[in-house]
Amino acid sequence: MKFSTTTSAAARARAGVALVPVLGGRLCGSAAQAIDEANGGRLSRLLASGDLGKKAAATLSTHLDGSIARVVLASFGKDKEANEKSYIDTVRAAYKAAGSFSADDALSLLHDVPVAGRDLAWKVRVQALAGRDIAYRFEQMKSEPDPKPPRPKRVALALERADAAAAGREIDRASAIANGMDLAKDLGNLPANVCTPTYLADTARKLAREFGLKCEVLDEKQMQALKMGALLAVARGSAQPPKLIVLRYQGAGAKQAPIVLVGKGITFDTGGISLKPAPEMDEMKFDMCGAASVLGTMRAVAEAKAKVNLVVVVPTTENMPGGRATRPGDIVTTMSGKTVEILNTDAEGRLILCDALEYAKRFSPAAVVDVANLTGACVIALGHHHSGLFSPNDELAGELQAAGREVADTCWRMPLDDAYQEQLKSPFADVANIGGRPAGSVTAACFLSRFTKDYTWAHLDIAGTAWRSGTNKGASGRPVPLLTRFVLARSGAA
Ligand code: BES
Ligand code: MN
Ligand code: ZN
Repeated sequence: MKFSTTTSAAARARAGVALVPVLGGRLCGSAAQAIDEANGGRLSRLLASGDLGKKAAATLSTHLDGSIARVVLASFGKDKEANEKSYIDTVRAAYKAAGSFSADDALSLLHDVPVAGRDLAWKVRVQALAGRDIAYRFEQMKSEPDPKPPRPKRVALALERADAAAAGREIDRASAIANGMDLAKDLGNLPANVCTPTYLADTARKLAREFGLKCEVLDEKQMQALKMGALLAVARGSAQPPKLIVLRYQGAGAKQAPIVLVGKGITFDTGGISLKPAPEMDEMKFDMCGAASVLGTMRAVAEAKAKVNLVVVVPTTENMPGGRATRPGDIVTTMSGKTVEILNTDAEGRLILCDALEYAKRFSPAAVVDVANLTGACVIALGHHHSGLFSPNDELAGELQAAGREVADTCWRMPLDDAYQEQLKSPFADVANIGGRPAGSVTAACFLSRFTKDYTWAHLDIAGTAWRSGTNKGASGRPVPLLTRFVLARSGAA
């Protein structure tokens, strides 16, 4: 799906389908009215029938006879303005309805609806991101593609001349984000027998070639030389070799401190010797969605040519049981020198992250954000709406929260105070890798905090947001929008 802007009068435009906003039961905006007049009042008569109703996210579709062949009327609710949620929900419903037609070209007026506290740029961005999200298909593993490809193929946003240039730039940035999301979704959806640590490393090398990035992939020997005892302990049970992927983008002066993003890359999490139960274990192929999201963000930032320096670090391995696998009770020495008692081999994410976070020090970062499907407890705490945000730094936390709201990819701040650190005490080592059931996502973040004292740091737990379960199972591409917006904002471009 490709987005563009048009400034020609809506009523005279040619389109296979027009997306027309309705607010409080009436057509919203002068362009919608012009289309109605050009069609002899057909749209207002349709609204008068009451078939659309006044609820947000309701749609009503019909054929017309003029240069606009079809129309989707989309209700944004009964109030004077839409709110963020009703806007997003209705935009998604309208694009889905448009996709049920065979029309290739759409004309959208959906940004003519006022949204409380939000400007045109936000509406354009959210629309482009939602459209691309709905158009995404994962068909790499099918022998034949779906005979019905996603539609519409092209969407023109009808705009006033004065707004078109800025909206065009917003579309460019949103499409860079959407391309990054598509990459993250593809990597997440691929099965673990295809998407191995080696596959992730090859993907990073390909990105480096396409966007002129520096790529370095450390192997097991190099990890040994760096004394990454925690990462290596997780990899022991697997036949797949682990990797530490480092991708670097330089969009600003070499002296400018980079933002470092660290993504958990467990390509399959069986739990190891602390084996997980069988139901839904297939979903643990998504345990590399942190890695996928930082690679996707790198793609988006590089495509947007942001004036910023960005480093992406991905520790990646499987977590498998095996004759050489780490046992509960084993004690390992991390790259930082701290020792960890591994009481549960299923708490492996924090083990690979702690060595990657130690490694991140060498970039003298302006900020480090790690991204991980870290805890089931985070899903219990926040469900599937917000990612969990943990940071000792109010300013960085505020930036990430604001970035998320700008792109409808939100996070919610969770506590991280010292009171919780006590749960990680070990009688035998410096720290235990689990802190019991209470506040499981907080103690996981507390574990990471011990390795991040030398820089400004935040942690995003995306266990509830990176993929959907059930019949509509699949990777969501989150939090690529949040991270990209955060990086672009730091570069001064957003
Ligand atoms: N990858 C999982 C977290 C996870 C589980 C995310 C289910 C989404 C759904 C992580 O490695 C894990 O297994 N965490 C354990 C930690 C526990 C052993 C302290 C968990 O959450 O149960
Ligand atoms: Mn696990
Ligand atoms: Zn895991």
